[in-house]
Amino acid sequence: MRKKIIAANWKMNMTAAESVSFMEDLELELKNFDGVEIVIIPPFTALPRVSELVSETPGVTLGAQNMWHEASGAFTGEVSAAMLREFFTRYVVLGHSERRTIFNETDELVNKKVKAAHAANLRPILCVGETLAERDAGTHHAVLSKQLKGSLAGLDKEQMLDTVIAYEPVWAIGTGRTATPAQAQEAHEFIRKTLAEIFDAGTAAKVRIQYGGSVKPDNAKELLHQKDIDGALVGGASLDPRSFAKIVKAGARG
Ligand code: 13P
Repeated sequence: MRKKIIAANWKMNMTAAESVSFMEDLELELKNFDGVEIVIIPPFTALPRVSELVSETPGVTLGAQNMWHEASGAFTGEVSAAMLREFFTRYVVLGHSERRTIFNETDELVNKKVKAAHAANLRPILCVGETLAERDAGTHHAVLSKQLKGSLAGLDKEQMLDTVIAYEPVWAIGTGRTATPAQAQEAHEFIRKTLAEIFDAGTAAKVRIQYGGSVKPDNAKELLHQKDIDGALVGGASLDPRSFAKIVKAGARG
């Protein structure tokens, strides 16, 4: 019922020229990915080139890594939702833990961005996840609940259905230390339960929840076959077209 969504978050990697050769290689690798939606999330500077290539590849859509919530004005260095839509960007990653920790983004700010994205017909990929200290202290449910309630405040059910959640435990990002499939499933189930509390059970059952944090070709299949895991948000392993294609195939039907 929930179509798997596998996304390549390139972070601050890939020039526009490099992204073109990545897309060419990916197209060659990508066969048999039935039932999977693929999202390529390049840095802003590569959006125009990748947008053209994505439009020629069925089943692949475009995402951005961040945006500012105001429509325009004196916000040096920032990019608006309309600027992203100009290149047919469909998704925008919001509240990534790197934005929360390095750039001090709060749930309140993330919530403004989530609302501005919806107002511009961009679908947020909202990231939530606990640190290692929070997991060790046994507080990961409280952390996830606070992030979800804060970041999704004021959304209606329709907007929630057009939102993807990414569970990214901070301790698993770029560390090579993946959450076990059981740990990830447990957190995803909790997130779905929380969405049911905020919205309703029917809405929660339809929302796609991705796992992110050291997803690799050799661990993708087991993670992607957990009951509440509906996709992956891939960092490091998405920079190589062959390994990203393997992860996509791990989520494909059959
Ligand atoms: P890695 O796959 O490199 O751990 O990064 C995960 C991530 O942060 C995706 O948004």
